[in-house]
Amino acid sequence: MSPRREVVNSQAVPTGEAPAAGPSEPVDLAPTAAPEEELEEAYLRPRRLGEFRGQAGVVEHLAIVLEAARKRGQPADHLLFAGPPGLGKTTLAGIVAAEMGVGLRITSGPALVRAGDLAALLNDLQEGDVLFIDEIHRLGRAVEEILYPAMEDFQLDIVIGKGPTARSLRLELPRFTLVGATTRTGLITGPLRDRFGLVARLDYYDPGDLEAIVRRAAHILEVDIRGEGAAEIAGRSRGTPRIANRLLRRVRDFCEVRSDGVVTKESAAAGLSLFGVDELGLDKVDRAILSAVCHRFGGGPVGLSTLAVSVGEEPDTVEDVYEPFLIQVGLLMRTPRGRVATPAAWRHLGLDPPVAGTDPPAASLFDPEV
Ligand SMILES: Nc1ncnc2c1ncn2[C@@H]1O[C@H](COP(=O)(O)OP(=O)(O)O)[C@@H](O)[C@H]1O
Ligand SMILES: [Mg+2]
Repeated sequence: MSPRREVVNSQAVPTGEAPAAGPSEPVDLAPTAAPEEELEEAYLRPRRLGEFRGQAGVVEHLAIVLEAARKRGQPADHLLFAGPPGLGKTTLAGIVAAEMGVGLRITSGPALVRAGDLAALLNDLQEGDVLFIDEIHRLGRAVEEILYPAMEDFQLDIVIGKGPTARSLRLELPRFTLVGATTRTGLITGPLRDRFGLVARLDYYDPGDLEAIVRRAAHILEVDIRGEGAAEIAGRSRGTPRIANRLLRRVRDFCEVRSDGVVTKESAAAGLSLFGVDELGLDKVDRAILSAVCHRFGGGPVGLSTLAVSVGEEPDTVEDVYEPFLIQVGLLMRTPRGRVATPAAWRHLGLDPPVAGTDPPAASLFDPEV
């Protein structure tokens, strides 16, 4: 399971610093899926490569790898998908299995506690199967080590017994394709990364692709969406299909209750503002991060762990989940001395950016990380 972003932030910055959310219950903009959302997602998930919108480079590369494997009559190379949550890594794992016409087994790094857990799973695979390991960067050392010979030679080395009578046993495995997913390739050890035939990076979707994804989901959900309605939703979805689909469902509900159920640019915008989603798609925690950098640290630079503490999140969560998007939209910068708010961030909070060349504010002098 991916670390889930909490909607309620217990140690958040004092209220008053961040702009108030909308009058209605705000939409959770976490890019990770809530448990009850996973079922709905499965329904909207593209099944074949041809249905997968965007990520053109990755899709083209993948199509070649799969086609070549099919021609050779062999399982595809091991594949690693990296990128922020909600961009389609799990979806692609399913697509690989469907395109190859093989079975799919799903597990995750944190679920494989002992080497035996992985050994049992590997031993149970059918020839050609896809084994998907989500959050593969969270595999324990011992588990990772039995994965190496399995990936390379389709062999499993297991030790039976303890002490002087311990014996090592080698088992032949069916040939399989390992598909790994991770939020950052930098989190994967070198030896593991080297064993993947393809390392593909997923990026935030551009508005056109996201709009097409919203239209497709609206079609499946039988939502009547017209004019610029899909574009309005796409524009506030942080470049993330999972969030786009979630906002579509909330807007659909809003339109069913407040009007005739038709989603237009105007009704989508009205619904989204009511749910506290701003024009950039920032949520409470994003605004808390920007607010902390600007208000407490004079715009930065501020170190990652200091910033994380001040918004009550784990440094990893800030770095993997929130920062990539804030950086992508040009609100935050990562510098060698720490995180810095851009003038656009000040303006987004309704503040005047500081004038260049003035002394750094006192707060940043006390940041222990700077
Ligand atoms: N390229 C895409 N086209 C259409 N829908 C997509 C695409 N990528 C992701 N989705 C949708 O977004 C949801 C989240 O994708 P998922 O593969 O679970 O992301 P990740 O595993 O990277 O967190 C899926 O349910 C799917 O409906
Ligand atoms: Mg996933």
